[in-house]
Amino acid sequence: MITEIKKVEKESVALGKDILLSGGVIGMPTETVYGLAAVGTNPEAVKEIFRIKGRPSDNPLIAHVHKDYDINKLVEIEHAYVYCLIDAFTPGPLTLVFKSKGVVCKEAVCGGDTLAVRIPSHKGAQELLRAVDAPIVAPSANLSKHTSPVTAKHVYDDLCGQIPLILDGGKCAGGIESTVLDVTGEIPRILRAGLITKEMIESVAGGCLIAEHKEGDKVKSPGVKYKHYRPRCETALFDYGDIEGVIERYDKEVKAGKNPYIMCANEFKKDFENKNLLLLGQTPEEIASNLYDKLLEGEKKADIIIAIAMENEKGIFLGVMNRLRKSCG
Ligand code: TXA
Ligand code: MG
Repeated sequence: MITEIKKVEKESVALGKDILLSGGVIGMPTETVYGLAAVGTNPEAVKEIFRIKGRPSDNPLIAHVHKDYDINKLVEIEHAYVYCLIDAFTPGPLTLVFKSKGVVCKEAVCGGDTLAVRIPSHKGAQELLRAVDAPIVAPSANLSKHTSPVTAKHVYDDLCGQIPLILDGGKCAGGIESTVLDVTGEIPRILRAGLITKEMIESVAGGCLIAEHKEGDKVKSPGVKYKHYRPRCETALFDYGDIEGVIERYDKEVKAGKNPYIMCANEFKKDFENKNLLLLGQTPEEIASNLYDKLLEGEKKADIIIAIAMENEKGIFLGVMNRLRKSCG
């Protein structure tokens, strides 16, 4: 199969719609990462997503809809705070987990009784979703376990020959996947941290819990238990501020004939003069936005990526550190 990359335009969106409605799978942009899309009411198309990605069969998919879609068709909204969250943060990088009405097929939710729904803010995503006017299920458009794609080229590098079309909507501004929030309980609960932070949710919903994942627990968001986000090179992760440790490791790798790269926030640039760097930026938003892009740049250039942790795990850094540990830890 030839994989075409086409800029989001009227014609390419129409082509994407035709492929989706005839049961196909395509790559689509969102404001977080690129998605691998299929119509969520078509079991065969949904199975194709799992096959193409090599995704474990117990890890459910998120259903994406346009901003005027009536989500009451898909799920039960059980708590009043949900309306406040929808008002405040959608369209945007927030995924809400509801009790499902079973419209999206059981293959997409792995037989579970809940459905994750997201209304992406990316303009191209909205155009496609509006054209199809049905729930589109889409995991990140990478091979299972690999780093999530934030450009059409990243999708191509992983899935070339497996899908007919990748809609190119530019580099994703968000850079890490959406916050996944369970809204089936009295108090919302974060299952996967992201750009919509605990503090932001609290300010609107009055409270917010964070799901803990202890060894042996039944996992509520199956995706978080798997190895994830790994670039295809060796990695190492050092504590925030451990400049000496990083330099020692870097020098050791160079002596062994390897080509190391240090991945860090811009504040450390001055500490690593004349060394190979993958700079993530300054603000938490910038750092999140560049994280996967730099990991994917790093796997091409480096024998080993030596990363430094963020200074804390507050706000957006909670989501960033969660990915950094899984990719480089
Ligand atoms: O930003 C995003 O969310 C991207 C873009 C493409 O929208 N999508 C994405 O999908 O990251 P994926 O499949 O890579 O991750 C979905 C996460 C997984 O951790 C999965 O376990 C969780 O959401 N999830 C999906 N449905 C769920 C459900 N019904 N209950 C609990 N967790 C669910
Ligand atoms: Mg993923």
